[in-house]
Amino acid sequence: MLAAALAEGLPVTGQVADIRDVRIDGTFDILLINRTLHMLDRKDRTAVLSHMLGHVAANGWLLLLDERSNMPGFRSVVEADPADWSIDRQKGGLLFAQRQPDG
Ligand SMILES: C[S@@+](CC[C@H](N)C(=O)[O-])C[C@H]1O[C@@H](n2cnc3c(N)ncnc32)[C@H](O)[C@@H]1O
Repeated sequence: MLAAALAEGLPVTGQVADIRDVRIDGTFDILLINRTLHMLDRKDRTAVLSHMLGHVAANGWLLLLDERSNMPGFRSVVEADPADWSIDRQKGGLLFAQRQPDG
């Protein structure tokens, strides 16, 4: 992935880690989680998503793809986040939400 990004001149940073242990620094405009959280048990996938939501910038996006059966739980995590989120799209195994500006 990094070689492909470098070849295109894209400033990409890679990290190999157990997603349950990742602690993010800073904020990002897009949080894309593509079919990974279903590999974790419910408690861990809730904790991982909850942590990562806290690092999406105002007006930034969550683009989450996973098993359809997990989506109601993920939506509950988004709705419980201290920030305001607008659900843009939820269909099948897809949930797109935008973090609203603070306060
Ligand atoms: C269905 S694959 C999706 C992979 C990738 N997102 C894609 O679209 O091709 C699920 C991935 O989650 C990874 N995975 C499982 N448990 C993980 C964990 N605790 N931390 C990080 N990755 C994990 C697996 O190694 C696998 O590569």
